[in-house]
Parts: sequence; structure tokens; C-alpha cells
Amino acid sequence: MEKTFLMVKPDGVQRNLIGEIVSRFEKKGFQLVGGKLMSIPTELAQEHYGEHKERPFFGELVDFITSGPVFAMVWEGENVISTARQMMGATNPKDAAPGTIRGDFGITVGKNVIHGSDSPQSAEREIGLFFKEEEVVAYSKLI
Ligand code: CMP
Repeated sequence: MEKTFLMVKPDGVQRNLIGEIVSRFEKKGFQLVGGKLMSIPTELAQEHYGEHKERPFFGELVDFITSGPVFAMVWEGENVISTARQMMGATNPKDAAPGTIRGDFGITVGKNVIHGSDSPQSAEREIGLFFKEEEVVAYSKLI
């Protein structure tokens, strides 16, 4: 079954949006298989956002994601990677449709509430960066 990495960013945590965001993915039918509230060390932030290191906003991005606690999650379900991206909405909240997480709660491209893996490769990489194997659980198929 497909897994993805999702993270409520410091703005979302500070605005008490963890419950709202978790609830949306639960109601959709996905399963939370890993989760932790954590402060991201600078080196982890730089590695996580490595593909953006040449961008002019890289410093700002790392400063923001390390500025307060985040809620890192692993979610499981059929097509969860692409469906979660649809539920998150466009990266820039000004372009995100109402009904999406960023469309409903975000205003600026930097403080856009949530991060989600954009491909199977990035999901595997990001889950591995943030979670040890034993921190990701498996549910019984009986429930
Ligand atoms: P995210 O999905 O976490 O992945 C990269 C992040 O870079 C993206 O969300 C945005 O929050 C951020 N980002 C993209 N463009 C800009 C920008 N022009 N200025 C600041 N941050 C940006």
C-alpha cells in the first residue's frame, strides 16, 4: 500500500490546525501510520529541502521550517501521494482552490500550512529522513 510524508508546518501548528488537518485525511479514508511533534534540526531541514538549495528563498525556507514545532506524519492508502497533494491545494495559497487545505487556511507561499511529498521517490526519501522504520506502524486488516 502506498505511503506518503505529510507535515503540518510551524504556522499550522501554532494556529492549532493539527486536528483539522489530521481529520481531513482520516475522513477521506487514509490511515495515519506515523506521527510526531518535533523541532527540525537545521541540518535535517537543509537535507529535506535539498532540491531547493539554489533558490533565492532557500535560507528563508530553512529558517521558517526550523522556527517552531512541526507535526510530521506518515499516511497510508491507495494513491495517497497524489490525492493528498490534491487535498493540500496549490503551493501558493493564492492559487489554491477553496476546499483545499491551503485554499482554506493559507495566505502566503512561505507560510502555506502543510508540506506533502510530490512523488513516490520523494515520499520514500522524506519518510526515511524523518522516521525510523519502527516508528511506522502496521494495522491489522481486521479493523
Ligand atoms: P513545500 O511544499 O514545503 O516545498 C517547498 C516550499 O518552498 C514550498 O512548500 C513553499 O512553502 C516554499 N516556497 C516556494 N516558493 C517560495 C517563495 N517564492 N518564497 C518563499 N518560499 C517559497
